[in-house]
Amino acid sequence: MRVLMIAGNWKMNTTVSEAVSLVNEMRQALDEITGVEKVVCPPFISLAAIRDLIKGTSIKLGAQNLYFEEKGAYTGEVSPLMLAELCEFVIIGHSERRQYFSETGKVVNKKVRAALKAGLKPILCVGEKLEENELGRTIELVTEQLRSSLAGIDYPGSFIIAYEPVWAIGTGKAATGKQANETIGLIRRNISELYGKEAGEDIRILYGGSVTAANAAEFMHQSEIDGALVGGASLKADEFLSIVRQTAEIKGH
Ligand code: 13P
Repeated sequence: MRVLMIAGNWKMNTTVSEAVSLVNEMRQALDEITGVEKVVCPPFISLAAIRDLIKGTSIKLGAQNLYFEEKGAYTGEVSPLMLAELCEFVIIGHSERRQYFSETGKVVNKKVRAALKAGLKPILCVGEKLEENELGRTIELVTEQLRSSLAGIDYPGSFIIAYEPVWAIGTGKAATGKQANETIGLIRRNISELYGKEAGEDIRILYGGSVTAANAAEFMHQSEIDGALVGGASLKADEFLSIVRQTAEIKGH
């Protein structure tokens, strides 16, 4: 049985004090919801403070990125070893990193390897752009991203995939539940081909892109979708709590 996950990607939002306030606002209520794995991914500089705040609760912590080297002269970067001391998850290959920071499939692949080596659980993001979607190239693009991100990696074990169509991110124009379910089903089949049927059945695949309290239920009713990676709506305590609650009610076990 796949454990559901709702992860909040705060992106480049919140100062340390704002991050602390946001977690304080939802900590108790979030902790009490069962049947769903709840993850917050604040900016790097807030990880240590949030780790201390959520100690002893069921809330988990993730980072939004990492560099693939363990240490050295890489000014401004954060290594997997540094993160492993602070958090359990790390988002890798987000489309904003691919788009604004020129991250290629090769770089994403190195980051996935580095995260796994350090014992971090990657949340690997894949998703097509609007023009690719309109040209009917979604399947081809998502398959290519998935295969290049995982090239040469033996069974990656406990990692998570997030399907985030680029045209749905931050636009208020979410995919439909049916669209997301279809592509996520395809991703699952790819994982089965790469790593065997059991791996395909076990892997958790989230949907991301304009998920809100108003549309979360539509996604959670789909058979292939195991939760959500939430951007904007994860910055509002009430909204995030509502998404987690609805997920627990619909699919929690
Ligand atoms: P929004 O929920 O703001 O569309 O962002 C989605 C996302 O990119 C999560 O990683």
